[in-house]
Amino acid sequence: MTEDEQKDAPHKVGNLLDEVVLGFDRALKTLTGQVEASRPNPAGDEVDLVLEDDERAHAIGLMRVNHTGEICAQALYEGQALTARSDASRQALKNAAQEERDHLAWCRERLAELGGRSSILDPVFYGTSLMVGAATGLVGDKVSLGFVEATEDQVVEHLNRHLSELPEADVRSRAILEQMRLDEARHGDEALAMGGESFPALVKGAMTVVSRVMTKTTYKI
Ligand SMILES: [Fe+2]
Ligand SMILES: [Fe+2]
Repeated sequence: MTEDEQKDAPHKVGNLLDEVVLGFDRALKTLTGQVEASRPNPAGDEVDLVLEDDERAHAIGLMRVNHTGEICAQALYEGQALTARSDASRQALKNAAQEERDHLAWCRERLAELGGRSSILDPVFYGTSLMVGAATGLVGDKVSLGFVEATEDQVVEHLNRHLSELPEADVRSRAILEQMRLDEARHGDEALAMGGESFPALVKGAMTVVSRVMTKTTYKI
């Protein structure tokens, strides 16, 4: 270690500690619903139509899954930003995370309107996603951005499925998911444009299995 590096070491440890404390604070806020959207809720003043009991229960299950998906998005971006090599990639990841915070807040608002609650498994999925994000970031920025593209690709497919499954009368949930679908597709395109490498089909297949586990469990609990 050179003399300059020795002088710099306490600063680096200090910065790392700051990051850990701030990251922990963001995790708590994400998990406890203290996240505010920066854009208005796309459901706007759409009338909240009365749903049959079984329709409402189904809508709650679907929106709980979407809420957990957005918790995962926060943790993935957080993990990837933590280990990103370049400042440009880190900044791009942080910008995308802001739009994901809108999604998180909107899903949470809709869940409350429907009389549902978030999944008890959210902290587990946050922790898992944080580790997956950090590990992906360690491989390198191109792979990390490619991972964003692959994830968003799957999220768009997933949202298509949910839009066909949601009760027709649940216009407020539908408006939220439609805006999310536009945003997610753009996040994927931007990640590719920034140099993300397209992911092999095999890896995408493995991600499908993981997301199925998440959607199956959080629909119920
Ligand atoms: Fe999202
Ligand atoms: Fe996204």
